[in-house]
Amino acid sequence: MDLDQLAALRTPEGSAALAAAARVAGGDPLAAAAALRSAGIPGDLAAAALTQAELRRRAVGKFGAAAAGMFLTRPGLEQATRGVVADRRAARLRAAGVTTLADLGCGLGADALASARAGIRVYAVEADPLTAAMAAANAGAAGLAELVTVECGDATAFDVSRVDGAFCDPARRRAGTGRRVFDPRAYSPPWDFVTGLAARVPRTVVKVAPGLDHALIPAGAEAEWVSVDGDLVEAALWCGELAGVPRRATVLREKEGPLLNASGSKRVPSYHLTGTGAAEAPVGPVRRFLYDPDPAVVRAHLVAELATDLDATLADPSIAYLYADEARPTPFARCLEITDVLPFSLKRLRALLRERRVGRVEIRKRGSALEPEKLRRDLRLSGNAAADLVLTRVAGDPTVLVCRPVPAGG
Ligand SMILES: C[S@@+](CC[C@H](N)C(=O)[O-])C[C@H]1O[C@@H](n2cnc3c(N)ncnc32)[C@H](O)[C@@H]1O
Repeated sequence: MDLDQLAALRTPEGSAALAAAARVAGGDPLAAAAALRSAGIPGDLAAAALTQAELRRRAVGKFGAAAAGMFLTRPGLEQATRGVVADRRAARLRAAGVTTLADLGCGLGADALASARAGIRVYAVEADPLTAAMAAANAGAAGLAELVTVECGDATAFDVSRVDGAFCDPARRRAGTGRRVFDPRAYSPPWDFVTGLAARVPRTVVKVAPGLDHALIPAGAEAEWVSVDGDLVEAALWCGELAGVPRRATVLREKEGPLLNASGSKRVPSYHLTGTGAAEAPVGPVRRFLYDPDPAVVRAHLVAELATDLDATLADPSIAYLYADEARPTPFARCLEITDVLPFSLKRLRALLRERRVGRVEIRKRGSALEPEKLRRDLRLSGNAAADLVLTRVAGDPTVLVCRPVPAGG
């Protein structure tokens, strides 16, 4: 895809080609190309339209119905923020008083559009010409062109004195190869520029990889880890006036369906756990219930805060499973009832599961080198019953906990 192909897709013929491509996308690519050819659509336009249609189908998981009108590149889509996460961030920026925002390295514009939807005037900068053109087209398609200005250029040269908020989601992939970059010092725009923004714009937020080393969190910033339906999706550093607490775990439940707020707009249920990130949970024996904390809680180093809320303890100081006498409903952990605690032995475990006629197991692990799929094969299960197996260590010893789920709600 290049700028000429994008321009062609934005003509009336291009719109017709996109509509035709949307009807045939998702099936056999050769049949789809033939269908567009037989509708008289020129080959180059048909190929561009089919690529967009496929990317739009893939983008539905991230952007919902809005994906159908967006222009996308594969790397741009992979790097884009999920709609529910971008909307939440934008709402928080708006609530903190941000009225004009610089989005420095805006990609396809997922965050820029969310901020505009929240009523913020956005100046978006993107170095890659095609991506910048698509971001502008996406603002137009969303009816937000008046609130979003996209400039193609180097974000480090943007005059931030024009804005009262800054957002940066640096590229974590190498241009050209698309390979992931794990060291923030290799991000683009560069890490020094990104972390230096907070000194120049009092309300700055930076999106970072969820694997971020805590040692790189700038002093005074709030580090937030976000999960959606149990998947860890990103971390963000809220700087300056935006920092509320040292650490926050935000758990979004998209699958619970949107809630309508007072103004009639939709929002996804969200839950927050906060703390210092430095507290240590007490250690004790295995108890009746096991809590497997959400990855956002674990990465934010808030297991001790969760332990306090649940009146729970660890069984091993280095493993983030919590144990308690009571099953309390919590959005921050999955709760299982422990029926058996065995020192790990394949033979004993197989015998116990045979006796209970367990034919299906869900396997979780922390602190165990065992491979769940190999274990599942080695167990040679048969029967109609189900069980949860937790592979872990208790006071240093390899242990398997046989469990059953506690229904959500306690
Ligand atoms: C992770 S993506 C942004 C994704 C965006 N937040 C979204 O949700 O759609 C980072 C973008 O920054 C751009 N970029 C990298 N270095 C830049 C620079 N110095 N100036 C402007 N853009 C830059 C990359 O081309 C890439 O599109």
